[in-house]
Amino acid sequence: MELLEEQRETWGSRGGFVLAAVGSAVGLGNLWGFPYKLYSYGGGAFLIPYIVAMFCIGIPMLILEFSLGHFTQRAAPDAFRRVNKRLEFVGWWGVILGFVIITYYPTILAYCFSYMGDSLVSIFSGNPLPWAGEGIEGVENASNYFFKDYLTGGGYIGPFRGEILLMLILAWVAMYFCIFRGVNLVGKIVWLTVPLPWIMLLILAVRGLTLEGCMKGLAFYLDPDWTQLAKPTTWRFAFGQVFFSLSLAFGVMLTYASFLHRKSDINNNAAIIGIADFATSFIGGIAIFATIGGMAHITAQAGQPVPVNEVINGGPGLAFVAFPYALAQLPGAAWWSLIFFFMLVTLGIDSAFSITESVLAGIVDKTGWRRSIVLPVMSIVGIGTGLMYVTIDGLSFLGTVDGFVNGTWGIAFIGLLECVVLGWFSRLDVLRDHANERSDWHLGRWWNAAIRIVIPVVLGTLFFWSLYDNIAQFKAGEFLRNADGTCRISDCVGMGIMVVACLLAVMMSLFRSPHHKTEKQSAKLLRPESSTARSSGIFGCVIAAVALGLFIAAMTSEQAVLLYSSIALAVATLVMCHVMLERFDNDSMRPSGFARAGGILAIADISLCVLIILINLSKKVADKQTKPLEHADTLSGTSYIILGVVFVLIVLGLGWCFWKAITAAAKNEPEQLQPEEKSLG
Ligand code: TRP
Repeated sequence: MELLEEQRETWGSRGGFVLAAVGSAVGLGNLWGFPYKLYSYGGGAFLIPYIVAMFCIGIPMLILEFSLGHFTQRAAPDAFRRVNKRLEFVGWWGVILGFVIITYYPTILAYCFSYMGDSLVSIFSGNPLPWAGEGIEGVENASNYFFKDYLTGGGYIGPFRGEILLMLILAWVAMYFCIFRGVNLVGKIVWLTVPLPWIMLLILAVRGLTLEGCMKGLAFYLDPDWTQLAKPTTWRFAFGQVFFSLSLAFGVMLTYASFLHRKSDINNNAAIIGIADFATSFIGGIAIFATIGGMAHITAQAGQPVPVNEVINGGPGLAFVAFPYALAQLPGAAWWSLIFFFMLVTLGIDSAFSITESVLAGIVDKTGWRRSIVLPVMSIVGIGTGLMYVTIDGLSFLGTVDGFVNGTWGIAFIGLLECVVLGWFSRLDVLRDHANERSDWHLGRWWNAAIRIVIPVVLGTLFFWSLYDNIAQFKAGEFLRNADGTCRISDCVGMGIMVVACLLAVMMSLFRSPHHKTEKQSAKLLRPESSTARSSGIFGCVIAAVALGLFIAAMTSEQAVLLYSSIALAVATLVMCHVMLERFDNDSMRPSGFARAGGILAIADISLCVLIILINLSKKVADKQTKPLEHADTLSGTSYIILGVVFVLIVLGLGWCFWKAITAAAKNEPEQLQPEEKSLG
């Protein structure tokens, strides 16, 4: 076992690891998720919840995944197994959903390849781009080109659209060659796939900002609508976006960190990655809105005005309809389109192979099979399952599956599970010490509270909220159903995939691996249980149960007082149980299961109560119709301030991280770290 650990491959350099993690985080979501959400939820005002979410959830959780991966030197399933044998399924669940992502993510890369090809053809032939068109009909043209000609036009091989299939295979071949030699090579490839899209994004942004009318576009992006901050949905989407954007919950970051050198920094790297991801999203938004502003100006001058809000869209509609259309209105369209789609390819490919690596490492670590066999098999299975999205309904199907994986039952639930499991069932202090020992700056005890209390409550609320939405759909007879009551096939398949993933995760964790025979007996059983924690744990469980009872009573009687007393009781329990874990989880003692159970019950209760409060608040706010913002032709003064503040924040943030890294490196070559003997369980 020890031998195996020492032989684990490592990243060539710190930069290689940081760039690979940034490459995974920075993906299509930064370009078609963030800017559109910012625009829809209050413009510049959205940055406040986003930045709060980044520091409350994003970076602490990134550190959690990094330190678990680094501590155990294992991919997700085995890493969770080290915490507790029964927890392996949590790791598998993430990894299996990761596999579901890699069935469809390459299909989007395939679209980009096709559009790149079209741009090249147009450059060489001098013909206009196939999606080009004038005025408002042009928008429809571009949309028809994507949804009709490209996705469902002729050229079928059996039920599959030939061109997309070919490009899909190309995408897989490209991914295969990026990762087949292991992370050392990945660490070199990302020096290309991360800076390249940044350069192209900067070029697109500068180009956008030099267009006439760009300020009008930016006004749509940045002019703040502070009233949106009062709406809980704004916060909900900000937290969701941060979580998604950092590629959390599918074991990717955990796996990447498992290949890190033993002495490598953790905390500072996580901060750098979080800030770099945010910077990319923000600049991506500037590039998009400035260009679309330029388009609005040109079409208005030509007498066929197409305002920004008529075209702006999120998701594939932005990347394959709105933005290509906007570029086509401007001089040098084909070249700019080539740059744009090439950027999307380089942006997406490192996210795609990061998750392939996480699945691959999960299987290799568990079975001991050879990488060189597992990867080709996985690629073929990936292409095979990817065929589903190359059919006539492919894109809508892709959207549905994505909605499930990145929705309640996917990302949100696994993230919640991860925090609860690691916060309440493992020795968080061991992970924190592990991270602190080798990092440029140190985490305080606040981090324990963030992982154990704050993140589970936030994610729990988001989870229950989506569940609440689903229940409402169910009551209206719309859950998994069309308006006419017939079953919506793609939704049913999506739901089916989620259920199968869960069962499969449990099955995979039951299957014995050759490594497990040598596993040391967990030190956990040797530590006596703390009797103080036991009695206060029992007390906590009782109060938490009373709090839940109060919650139910509040629901039936609709009395706010009951709701608030329920929260108050639960908070008290939570604090008490947290203190029990902080004090009695150490080398000589373990806290009682009751202290853990009490805390988790209290988290569930608080999440439910907060949800009810937020839903009521939403209803109240929705009653007060807010006026749509009037956008001036230039950026307002406030927006300039927002722009400046964000840039200063990014520069100061990254500067601080680099300064910490430099001073830490200069102070001392870290002394040889002792090999870990502690156990997480
Ligand atoms: N972070 C990626 C983006 O912003 C998307 C993503 C979410 C992802 N979860 C992932 C990518 C897991 C790879 C693996 O587009």
